Amino acid sequence: MYQVPRGTRDFTPDEMKIRRYVEEDMKSTFTTFGYNEIQTPTFENLELFTAKSGDSIIDEIYDFSDKGNRKLALRPELTAPVIRFYVEKLQMEPKPLKLFYFGNCFRYDRPQKGRYREFQQAGCEIIGTDTPEAYAELIALAYYNLKNIGLKNITLNIGNLDIINSMFTKIGITDKIKKELLPLIDKSQFEEIYTILCIENISEDIAKMFIEILQTSNIDKIKDYVKEDNTLTEEISNFENILHLLKKSFNISKYQIKISIVRGLDYYKGIVFEIDAPVLGAEKQLCGGGAYDLVGLFGGRDTATAGFAIGFDRTILALEVEKFEFPTPKIDVYIIPVNKEMTEKSIELAQQLREKGIITEVDLLRRGVGKSLKHANSKNSEKAIIIGQKELEKDSVTLRDMKTGDQQLVKIAEILSKLKSS
Ligand code: HAM
Repeated sequence: MYQVPRGTRDFTPDEMKIRRYVEEDMKSTFTTFGYNEIQTPTFENLELFTAKSGDSIIDEIYDFSDKGNRKLALRPELTAPVIRFYVEKLQMEPKPLKLFYFGNCFRYDRPQKGRYREFQQAGCEIIGTDTPEAYAELIALAYYNLKNIGLKNITLNIGNLDIINSMFTKIGITDKIKKELLPLIDKSQFEEIYTILCIENISEDIAKMFIEILQTSNIDKIKDYVKEDNTLTEEISNFENILHLLKKSFNISKYQIKISIVRGLDYYKGIVFEIDAPVLGAEKQLCGGGAYDLVGLFGGRDTATAGFAIGFDRTILALEVEKFEFPTPKIDVYIIPVNKEMTEKSIELAQQLREKGIITEVDLLRRGVGKSLKHANSKNSEKAIIIGQKELEKDSVTLRDMKTGDQQLVKIAEILSKLKSS
């Protein structure tokens, strides 16, 4: 028996209904914030993903050569593809350019619940502005997107890579050690960070202070720690402005400053943020994003860029854990011919109803009335129409309300208005 490749999934019709429902909901939030949808190819030239991160990223992605010996990769994310698209074709568009996308991504990850090798992202990129209000709006969009779907328990954490880089400079850490520390900071492994700092001959007090700042959410403490770095003055003032707007204008008061957010991808700078669903445990990160630099690297005229991506599959998992009630799939009408002779008329009526937008099914298994009614019930049909010879002679059919079981004889000419009025 064949099985799906490791880390991939099939989706049943019911699962697809849930996925489409969530997708539509997210789309409507993106649209209300003035974002427009784009699409990029599922695979790109491998170079697009190695340009910033170097060849080390190849271990984490699906790369291959095609029959023309081109080196290609299934996209592990959509930010680099969107910026490639922007540089190729969209640079002349009015700014800010606000784009959103849905797309499957592929990563050679170790599969577990909430971590797949093929998964879906819903994301946004804003191009051409670096004002605090643009960043605040972007963060609010990510937050409200998840809230609007119906998630109750999410946490928003906001950090700043310029501040953390300045902290590294302050304690005199080399780039090599910084690379070693970043994944530990990402996972909040503070004891391990302390050990490395001590091995690097950083004094106990300095190491302890560094770790304290990584863990604090007190902006004044952070400001005080990096006060000697004049290059940060504007960035910190913007950072505070973003936080102020989130609270006052976007009515989001439940966020945490988390300087230890370092983000896994190499293109970020300045403001970064993550949204978690704590109910998901280890794979709790639903959304990640921030400001980043790629346009110049891809040959475009430098301009500010920022964005985020939401893990679509994890969002659905979180909704399920929170026992969110997704709308139950239903059909409007199930038509039952009482015998073979009534088939033609049944199909004819079904077709007339479908043309008016009514979701209609006809018994295609010749099950007979009793079994068909059971089937209609299992399909959550609102109504059943039973077509028999005696009723047809009076140009009528039997209309049954599947909830109450009430039945009435209805003229065929009146069936549509009857269905619409009920
Ligand atoms: P990311 O944090 O790598 O960011 O991915 C965004 C989200 O995708 C994660 O928060 C997570 O929910 C989901 N995700 C990541 N890997 C997997 C996986 N293996 N299985 C299931 N879900 C996963 C980015 O991709 C950036 N491009 C976001 C961005 C857009 N930054 C700026 N613009």
